Amino acid sequence: MHSELNNVNAQDSDALESTDFDRLVDRALSRRSLLKGGMAAGMLGFFSLSPMAQAVAAALEPSRLLGFQAIQASTEDAVVLPAGYRSSILMSWGDPVLPGAPEFDHQGGNSAADQALQFGDNTDGMTLFHFKRADGSIDPDRAVLAVNNEYCNYKYLLGNGQVESREDVEKAKAAHGVTVVELVREGGKWRYLKDSKLNRRIHLETEMALTGPVAGHSLVKTAADPSGRKVLGTVNNCANGRTPWGTYLTCEENFHGYFGAERDEDVPAELAKYYGVKAAEERYQWWQHDARFNLSKTPNEPNRFGWVVEIDPFDPESKPMKRTALGRVKHENAELVLNADGHAVVYMGDDERGEHLYRFVSSGKYDPANDAANRTLLEDGTLYVAQFNGGEDDKHAGTGRWVELTHGKNGLSAANGFADQATVLVNTRQAAKQVGATSMDRPEWVSANPLNGQVYCALTNNKNRGKKDDQPLNGPNPRVANHYGQIVRWEAKGGDHTAEDFVWDLFLIAGNPALHQDGYAGTSNITAENMFNSPDGLGFDKDGRLWILTDGEDSNEGDFAGMGNNQMLCGDPATGEIRRFLVGPTGCEVTGLTFSDDHKTMFVGIQHPSGGFPDYQNGGKPRSSIVMVTREDGGVIGAA
Ligand code: FEO
Ligand code: CA
Ligand code: CA
Repeated sequence: MHSELNNVNAQDSDALESTDFDRLVDRALSRRSLLKGGMAAGMLGFFSLSPMAQAVAAALEPSRLLGFQAIQASTEDAVVLPAGYRSSILMSWGDPVLPGAPEFDHQGGNSAADQALQFGDNTDGMTLFHFKRADGSIDPDRAVLAVNNEYCNYKYLLGNGQVESREDVEKAKAAHGVTVVELVREGGKWRYLKDSKLNRRIHLETEMALTGPVAGHSLVKTAADPSGRKVLGTVNNCANGRTPWGTYLTCEENFHGYFGAERDEDVPAELAKYYGVKAAEERYQWWQHDARFNLSKTPNEPNRFGWVVEIDPFDPESKPMKRTALGRVKHENAELVLNADGHAVVYMGDDERGEHLYRFVSSGKYDPANDAANRTLLEDGTLYVAQFNGGEDDKHAGTGRWVELTHGKNGLSAANGFADQATVLVNTRQAAKQVGATSMDRPEWVSANPLNGQVYCALTNNKNRGKKDDQPLNGPNPRVANHYGQIVRWEAKGGDHTAEDFVWDLFLIAGNPALHQDGYAGTSNITAENMFNSPDGLGFDKDGRLWILTDGEDSNEGDFAGMGNNQMLCGDPATGEIRRFLVGPTGCEVTGLTFSDDHKTMFVGIQHPSGGFPDYQNGGKPRSSIVMVTREDGGVIGAA
């Protein structure tokens, strides 16, 4: 999400001061260090024969994994792809998905009831789930797609561009949430079925359950729900995850932005301190029309948002489950890895300047023969937060450990404000600070390499780094007023995702080597040909290519000259090589990534375009859309 309310990258990009450069030089942040072995010494000393260290040895080899020709930066109002690739639109905001839905009205005539039957706004994280045949094999040409609708733009959603009535609020609420649609592939091309019984819209009025340690706690009880177990809706659904048992995970990010109050003193202290909520919320203005979002009337409602929600995409009658054991933060995505011993491990970022990186480990173990039991795995487990050490030299590598966020441990006591485990989980940010978690440069998506289990996280940018006392320079966040971002990766000790210890390094530090010679040039795998800023989405494909999606400053000027519009790049984890693969149209963020099982179609989200995309008609509204990328020769996306 790229908006005024949140950590807007465009506005974040404060001009760098010369003292920043001096401090960087002092820190000897050598951009040549990473791929020429800077990491190897530290790594090998810790764990023997780390695959990461082997990767360093291979650093100067050109990539054999990346089989496409890199494209140049672009400021065109179009989706641009390498030679031999093409794109088409699967679905755009407002397209009909449920029976009786009207077509999108470019003049703004769709009602709240219409929107609740149409594809929601601002497409974000998504997962394609193929059908399975009776023999258990995957049907290559039938699937359901679950996709997040993160927020809405009043400029385009509402006739007058602002909220004037309860109906306007209801339309906005209906534009949020999740959309599920059935897809078929015919003649090599996917399309969605408008009349499928599996299609579903989940929004702010969809009933869901709170599960896990927080369910039924006094912190989540309201007058409308004295049980503290029944919530209406999900909001600001940013990125996503998938489970091995076939469910979809949707992550609630900037939930705080939907609440306001009649008086400053009615804003709960935790919400004011850790989320910056102020009484006079002006962006969405729901609280003025719907008492549920008015903190003067419903102060506990925000505690019922900020969770990871599990959804069965194949059962439109199923109740979405808010998994409170995974903590309450501004969740970005939820990367679930099945550990060798069967524990479900979920890695999660909290997208805020200076916030933290989390890991959940399920108490139970995955049983391939018992999906009913698997569906309770995320109800019960242990939450941890990351503490990074080392990297204060020019190596950009070090060690780290996961610190447990369990009531009664690590200072999470009643005396410190944590009455019980539910309080720890509702106030996850506070708990992380209590145990000494490392402050990060806005942790966005996390993705695990399916070939070796190494885990990557995009740290998108942070203008506060080195500027605020609670956000000093540290190993994985080495740059003052960091306006370009970096990607950190780590490897669990012994390859065991439940282990306390890990080693880490920076896979890349983004920068502008055409303009800077110092740390702002980035690591050696960033060149004038592939430079970008603000990595956000991350996703590995089955062959181990790392896809990097950006949500950054797209002015193409000053420190960002030569980077063009927001884009998608592809990285080779072994060689570190980065190639630009796709550039999005004017004003957009590229977010949301999933593949058909054969990897011959890539689905990519183009969020909040501001030019003519995708209709390019006179007077038409720009619409967030899901784009399908295929190869003219029918090959695997990204491969040779
Ligand atoms: Fe919805 Fe942090 O991006
Ligand atoms: Ca994001
Ligand atoms: Ca972002």
